[in-house]
Amino acid sequence: MRTAAVIGTGLIGTSAALALTARGIDVHLRDADPDAARTAASLGAGTVDGPEGVVDLAIIAVPPPMIASVLAACQREGLARCYTDVASVKAGPRQDIAALGCDTVHYIGSHPMAGAERSGPLAARADLFEGRTWVLTPTPDTDTDTLNAALELVALCGAVPVVMDAEAHDRAVALVSHTPQVLASLVAARLEHAEENAVRLAGPGIRDTTRIAGSNARMWVEILSANAGVVADILEELAADLGTAVTGLRSMQAADEAKRAEGASTVEDVLRRGNAGRARIPGKHGAPPTRYEVVAVVIGDQPGELARLFAEAGRAGVNIEDVLIEHSTGLQAGLVQLMVAPSAVAGLTSALQQRGWRVRSDR
Ligand SMILES: NC(=O)c1ccc[n+]([C@@H]2O[C@H](COP(=O)([O-])OP(=O)(O)OC[C@H]3O[C@@H](n4cnc5c(N)ncnc54)[C@H](O)[C@@H]3O)[C@@H](O)[C@H]2O)c1
Repeated sequence: MRTAAVIGTGLIGTSAALALTARGIDVHLRDADPDAARTAASLGAGTVDGPEGVVDLAIIAVPPPMIASVLAACQREGLARCYTDVASVKAGPRQDIAALGCDTVHYIGSHPMAGAERSGPLAARADLFEGRTWVLTPTPDTDTDTLNAALELVALCGAVPVVMDAEAHDRAVALVSHTPQVLASLVAARLEHAEENAVRLAGPGIRDTTRIAGSNARMWVEILSANAGVVADILEELAADLGTAVTGLRSMQAADEAKRAEGASTVEDVLRRGNAGRARIPGKHGAPPTRYEVVAVVIGDQPGELARLFAEAGRAGVNIEDVLIEHSTGLQAGLVQLMVAPSAVAGLTSALQQRGWRVRSDR
């Protein structure tokens, strides 16, 4: 690839353009809002001048409902040899594209699994896609050159390609992203009018389950509206599971012992299914799920404490696989949970204790 066009120079389009420009590709920028294209150009993402000939790849980075009409216009103009889009839903744009009678031989759908809270070119980063998966949704129509151009784009952006069918993609993102967003919001919404004393008890459980409830509501309405049917299907299945959990909990209060046992077993089954689902979430770098153990260390809430702790773990030859910080209420201290391989727990615990750290092993 030597030349590319980016149509829609917002967060995603400008990030792709910055990554391509950094790898020596000539990128031509366009946006319905000329200021957005000029801003992207001023950031070093390419030029707002039109290309002299046909570019190798056009990347359409406009909102999902606009993908098909922009693709049709670009193809009419003969802008590029191959085309892709980056919309976060795939089935809707594909249907629109078919309805408009676009050339589907030289077009491939795609979705980089990376983003940010903010939109627009000023939020863009050249490394936004580094190490992230980038889904490609070829159809039997897609020709090899187009697939290869998209694979090259993914590689130039430092991402990892995953090939999927458009419907499977939409169901997958509904399951791992869109449904969790709605659920996190619903759980967090229970706190809106809760007693101040109840909210003050908030610990890691509610913080973890509602972390994404702080997302931008308007942006999420747009995302959900593009995949509403699939998300509604999953939420309906979830509502049935919720009904089962409620029935189980009611039975746990029954006078009859057998009924109470039945209720407990229903609720336990819900929790065990959760264990099984959670255990399927891939580990680091997409590796199979790995079980880490926690070495919890109390640290002072002051500059340099974390650096000192991490350096200590490094000296003990231990790789920190993951880390969580729990802040204690009313105390200038925090509990740092170092996730390490089970074989490293004993060594790390004693090394830290010898150096005076207050360690709590969860074994
Ligand atoms: N934001 C994310 O986290 C994320 C992640 C992956 C994929 N996506 C997808 O990337 C695409 C762009 O999203 P974004 O977050 O960069 O949005 P954005 O709002 O930052 O940018 C969209 C840009 O498209 C321009 N635009 C709109 N209609 C146009 C048209 N007809 N012709 C030319 N330009 C037009 C807008 O002026 C705007 O500058 C969307 O399809 C979205 O689904 C977003």
